[in-house]
Amino acid sequence: MSTHTIELTTRDGELLRFDCDADQSLLEAAADAHIVLPSQCRQGSCGACYADATRGDYILGEHNPAALPAGAAEKGGILLCRTFPLSDLSVSLPFDHDRILLGEIRRRNADIAAIEPVGENTVRLTLHLAPDDGGSVAEFEPGQFVELEVPGQAIRRAYSLANTGNWEGRLEFLIRLQPGGLFSTWLREQAHAGQTLIVHGPQGAFGLSENGLRPRWFVAGGTGLAPMLSMLRRMAEFQEPHPVRLYFGVNRVEELFCLTELEALKAELPQLQVILCVWKPNQDWQGFCGTPADALAQDLDDLNARPDIYLCGPPALIDAAEAAARSQGVPVEQVFSERFLPA
Ligand SMILES: Cc1cc2nc3c(=O)[nH]c(=O)nc-3n(C[C@H](O)[C@H](O)[C@H](O)COP(=O)(O)OP(=O)(O)OC[C@H]3O[C@@H](n4cnc5c(N)ncnc54)[C@H](O)[C@@H]3O)c2cc1C
Ligand code: FES
Repeated sequence: MSTHTIELTTRDGELLRFDCDADQSLLEAAADAHIVLPSQCRQGSCGACYADATRGDYILGEHNPAALPAGAAEKGGILLCRTFPLSDLSVSLPFDHDRILLGEIRRRNADIAAIEPVGENTVRLTLHLAPDDGGSVAEFEPGQFVELEVPGQAIRRAYSLANTGNWEGRLEFLIRLQPGGLFSTWLREQAHAGQTLIVHGPQGAFGLSENGLRPRWFVAGGTGLAPMLSMLRRMAEFQEPHPVRLYFGVNRVEELFCLTELEALKAELPQLQVILCVWKPNQDWQGFCGTPADALAQDLDDLNARPDIYLCGPPALIDAAEAAARSQGVPVEQVFSERFLPA
């Protein structure tokens, strides 16, 4: 069995090196070397372990094509959980060194505090972490997700946090109830306040990038709003002065949600512009008609802007928004995304 040397370079320029056997995925070999890289499904479905191979040969095993940006696989785009080395490899990671865990993913119990409908087929789930050695503090970076596990039911799914870190141990999620989905059905039919869930995390590399005062434009489809709310709330807490826009899109007007929260955010972050987008609006709709990717493309063109762009939601929306950013000349290093895919 041949063993190869893998070199990882993080976005902030840190170099990490480990050995990987030809039949081991880069993700597994890194974990063996105590380098826990962002991942979720570990089977090529979700895209959470996306990176770029810059040198060397490899096999990219079976995976969901939607887990990679459109056209990325031909240019060295890889999924670390499905990549097996054929030679020494250099890999560029799309996140900073501080998103790599040097230890185990944290596992804690949390009680359901509330499940509230916020829009058609969308609920806000609020959990309270049970105290452990570190107290009940909820520590995470805006943009990260956790996996929620229903004890005894082998259901474990990723959900982005919508609030910010806090001392009370409060975790807030926005969850779209998918028809026939396992976690969705459990949440709709069986879950109730006081029940205990297992929380794995925080995990994930999506989050704010510090690039001076460059404008930040957030583009969210459906519950892709959750990590954007977390990042915007952090900006409001720190009174960050960046020019900032949120493009938030749904299919029909009835599906809009969290409008009160967005109004509250505008009061705390006065430079925030919110552009609500409805793909198939009714006649009374006064806002933008189309997807948030359409609105993004139009504004990038009209304003000749080159902001940092944060994308979250279904893969089709992210592909469309990435294409718009590319065609308007926004450098790829200024585009950050999280794809909501079933594991
Ligand atoms: C990093 C990450 C963060 C995520 N954060 C959120 C979040 O904050 N809020 C949220 O609502 N979801 C989020 N998701 C999606 C979430 O993890 C689940 O995939 C989703 O809730 C469905 O789980 P389920 O068990 O109900 O459905 P499953 O039992 O997994 O799937 C049942 C059926 O529904 C379909 N389906 C599942 N998910 C989708 C989808 N997103 N779009 C269309 N069809 C689908 C499947 O194809 C399948 O046919 C995130 C995913 C990832 C990878
Ligand atoms: S962890 Fe690799 S694609 Fe999901």
